[in-house]
Amino acid sequence: MPVPLLDLTRQYQDLKTDIDAAVARVLAHAKFIMGPEVATFEKEISEKLGVAHAIGVASGSDALILALRAVGVGPGHEVIVPTFSFFATAGSVTHVGATPVFCDIRSDDYNIDLDLVEKKITPKTKAIMPVHLFGQMPDMERLRRIADAHNLAVVEDAAQAIGASYKGTTAGRWGKAGCFSFFPSKNLGAAGDGGMIVSDDPNVAENVRILRTHGAKPKYYHGIIGYNSRLDTIQAAILSVKLKHLDKWTEQRRAHADVYDRELSGVGDLILPKRTGGAYHIYNQYTIATARRDALRDQLKSLGIGMEIYYPLPLHSQKCFEGLPRAGGSLPVAEKAAQTVVSIPIFPEMTESEQTVVIEAIKSFFA
Ligand SMILES: Cc1ncc(COP(=O)(O)O)c(C=O)c1O
Repeated sequence: MPVPLLDLTRQYQDLKTDIDAAVARVLAHAKFIMGPEVATFEKEISEKLGVAHAIGVASGSDALILALRAVGVGPGHEVIVPTFSFFATAGSVTHVGATPVFCDIRSDDYNIDLDLVEKKITPKTKAIMPVHLFGQMPDMERLRRIADAHNLAVVEDAAQAIGASYKGTTAGRWGKAGCFSFFPSKNLGAAGDGGMIVSDDPNVAENVRILRTHGAKPKYYHGIIGYNSRLDTIQAAILSVKLKHLDKWTEQRRAHADVYDRELSGVGDLILPKRTGGAYHIYNQYTIATARRDALRDQLKSLGIGMEIYYPLPLHSQKCFEGLPRAGGSLPVAEKAAQTVVSIPIFPEMTESEQTVVIEAIKSFFA
């Protein structure tokens, strides 16, 4: 039996009546840009996360770019980022004219290694951008202490982490700004691209609102050069429907993770994803590691079991960053992770028998 890494058609079938009705309402009122569903969804997110401001934008990548600019990052600045992440984490820094400074990660949760962050701080450092990789946050108390001691802004790349928390405080609320992605494969996914910036700081929120409409305030008067980056009304309407189910989906993902933890523990040389103290993991991905990763990947592929390698090349080794003064050097933990990790199916609707197929396939590979 093939098992997909993710099957979004099941989610749509479950919610079809509500989603179709929400889309039909938008088509009928035809306020496709900044229609009322955008403000409604923003309010729902701000209430759910307990954050003062939530501003919808066109994607998670744009959320990072606008958030960096909104907190004052620009040309001449450096931003410390973990090297093991999706490209947009570092791409956004370059887009605002600043320089990403790559930091190695921890081997247990693949998040930024806070023992190394302080050594990366220079007079040019303006911000730290932690990534809550795979849905689990690093020690944000310690990260905030480091940032505060050096007067640095924290911009959270919470693209993979909606609903995650650290010591009871939700992802997005630890930084000066928090950035979410509604890319379809995220735990809360749109029917296309979408993103959100959250902040408790009214100035940051105001800056983002101006930046997302070309820098205009009032309309047609441009004090700064901004972007065309709004969350589509149709996407907001769909996301509002889905948001009501997010907590249930998170629980389902966590239950699947419990089963994997139990069944795959001690199998071969597998390293299972560690739940770190204080962090509430929402398992956007369940990522295992083995020295025989490529062979395991090939085996799963031949059996029709979905898997993906997040990520095969750390950011500091990307060709486009070759010219950066600090790129290229060795960041060994991330380099090893890139050779050993593979993410396996963990979507909420995955059935027990599908999960058994995945588990048995992995066990028989190591047998
Ligand atoms: C860690 C991380 N940062 C940023 C992004 C960018 O989000 P988007 O694809 O919505 O632009 C993603 C997701 O794709 C991501 O996983």
